[in-house]
Amino acid sequence: MPGGPPLQLPPHRASSATLAGAYPFLLAPSCSTGVLVGTDALTGEPFCFDPWDLYATGVLTNPNVLLAGVIGQGKSALAKTLALRSVAAGRRVYVPGDPKGEWGPVADAVGGVVVRLGPGLPTRLNPLDVPAADRAVAHAHRLRLLAALAATALRRDLAAVEHTVLDTAVTAATGRTGSPTLADIVTALDSPRPDALEGRDLAHGLRRLIRGDLAGMFDGPSTYRLDADAAMVVLDLSALGSDDQALELAMTCAAGWLDAALTTTPGHGSSVRRWVIYDEAWRLLRSVPLIRRLQSQWKLSRAYGIANLMVLHRLSDLDAVGATGSEARSLAEGLLADCSTRIVYRQEADQLTATATSLGLTRPERDLLAALPRGIGLWRMPGRSHVVRHHLHADELAVVDTDAAMRGTSPQRPPEVAR
Ligand SMILES: Nc1ncnc2c1ncn2[C@@H]1O[C@H](COP(=O)(O)OP(=O)(O)OP(=O)(O)O)[C@@H](O)[C@H]1O
Ligand SMILES: [Mg+2]
Repeated sequence: MPGGPPLQLPPHRASSATLAGAYPFLLAPSCSTGVLVGTDALTGEPFCFDPWDLYATGVLTNPNVLLAGVIGQGKSALAKTLALRSVAAGRRVYVPGDPKGEWGPVADAVGGVVVRLGPGLPTRLNPLDVPAADRAVAHAHRLRLLAALAATALRRDLAAVEHTVLDTAVTAATGRTGSPTLADIVTALDSPRPDALEGRDLAHGLRRLIRGDLAGMFDGPSTYRLDADAAMVVLDLSALGSDDQALELAMTCAAGWLDAALTTTPGHGSSVRRWVIYDEAWRLLRSVPLIRRLQSQWKLSRAYGIANLMVLHRLSDLDAVGATGSEARSLAEGLLADCSTRIVYRQEADQLTATATSLGLTRPERDLLAALPRGIGLWRMPGRSHVVRHHLHADELAVVDTDAAMRGTSPQRPPEVAR
């Protein structure tokens, strides 16, 4: 052959799964609509993300996102900058529970609303508030919420007869007041009835929200109505401290209130794209009723232009809810399946195999997870993956910084909650 001998390379065969990891020249999602996240660490190209467009074009099977990584890797920083940049792109952002009280500055930065809830604080939300014109929808919402609250408070599933008793109590309280509160429901459960015995536990469980440590937060008419024009709304639960059961109850109420408000507030056309962000979600995943509620909310949320973002430490946080084969476990697995985008930040060595198996990672991707530095994550979407370096602007860094207390520059960081 003129010009020299032919190239003597042996042919190379590999599966498309391996080539996808070894051959990084995959097209990143378009930046024409998505918000900029940072750069693709392998190609240096800008990396943008818009779950709604990727869902609309069939790349994603749903717009929900799971974000997992060990402590301090920049998960919240990523969620917060996605929030800030999404607001700039016309999206709205809702944080139904902020147990560390670290989202306030983010909402302040975009002129959003921070609703602080806690013992002794003046704001109250009625989780049974459903301004729906359809009475059957309102009734079903109230019933689902009350069942979840009672099951969380009692730490057990409700008996069939207890569901019936709740149903009767909701009908009675709604008939009397039009827009019942938790206090009205407990009064209805307390009133002398043939099924009083079956309702005794329910009233006992729900009473914690009325007379116990959670009194005054969710037991009367709402003092705040969701502002349809607010770019961002954060429900700050940091005043609750580290009591996990109190947080689960409060989260159930707060998320239930937000769910009803988002799906019924006038002005929220389905064209508005909204993020609902559950930071520190691992603290909620030990509650089966809460997972059940999350899952049914997520199923509905697509119809309302909502993308959910759930932040965990590790995928095995989802296993913690119950034994293999249990209802709890399959609910948690369903929640993972409902997240078409999985972003994985650094994982501990003992998590690598399980993470790789549940996410179907290639060997190089798996090995990468143990070595990822702060701010760099593996983004898995169906049929594609990217290693993305998340870039923070100096102005954003001031808003998302959670290390300030460690450096002694801010006395405000609430204490870390140990697992
Ligand atoms: N991409 C980044 N570039 C520079 N600094 C970053 C980046 N991401 C995060 N940081 C800094 O790292 C610190 C920890 O980040 P962050 O609070 O987001 O971690 P986390 O993963 O949410 O931790 P935790 O599990 O404790 O909630 C913050 O002070 C943040 O400013
Ligand atoms: Mg965090």
